[in-house]
Amino acid sequence: MKKKKIIFNWKLNGNKYTIKCFINKVTYFIKENLEKINKNNIEILISPPIIYLDYVNNLLNNNVNIKLCSQNTDINYLGPFTGEISLKMLKDINVKYVIIGHSERKKFHNENKDIISKKFYISKISNIEPILCIGYEKNILNQIEDIINKYGINILYNTNIAYEPISSIGTGIIPSIDHINNINNMILNFLYKFDKNIKNNINILYGGSVSYKNVYNLIFKTNINGLLIGKSSTKIFDIIKIIKNIILI
Ligand code: PGA
Repeated sequence: MKKKKIIFNWKLNGNKYTIKCFINKVTYFIKENLEKINKNNIEILISPPIIYLDYVNNLLNNNVNIKLCSQNTDINYLGPFTGEISLKMLKDINVKYVIIGHSERKKFHNENKDIISKKFYISKISNIEPILCIGYEKNILNQIEDIINKYGINILYNTNIAYEPISSIGTGIIPSIDHINNINNMILNFLYKFDKNIKNNINILYGGSVSYKNVYNLIFKTNINGLLIGKSSTKIFDIIKIIKNIILI
């Protein structure tokens, strides 16, 4: 059975002090509830600002119950690319996942379809599992189609696609359960045309205004495989309440 990924994306928030408090509290809570977390097939990912990834890695101290996720990567492994970070560097500090093509990268950093496809591809072949965000554009299948056309359907095996409608990011408004299920089915039906087996080998996630108040319905009343959480991951008690509402304690 597939694990449901719960991804806490801190975006551009936090400092060494707050991050240490968060990690201490979250690791303690997870340790206390590990049986329930495992029983419910939940995998917890934390995505701090990149500069703190190694700090979090050290705080986690080989704790396998929380996985590290980067908010971005460059497409180059090394060389004259001032200000960038590479997948090799991320691997070096134990990062297992990377968010690709977040709508904020598109909006504020002009990331386009081509660059996002390349980032997705190079992450996958570098064995850092990509989480591809879609939902910024009108045709949400465009980005997936571009990846398939350039790199083939197999590149999508064991990866993640997060549907994040632009109208829901940071707004407090989430789509209906039916809408989320319909989008999920639409993505899977599209992929099925290329490969009949992909369905069981890819995770479709949802992101946008997830909170402890709506997490139960999102997890238990939809067919999604996980959640990408922004604002609610900046408050430690919201994180705890979100996990509690999924493992039902
Ligand atoms: P939000 O962000 O939870 O603050 O809406 C989600 C995201 O940007 O992935």
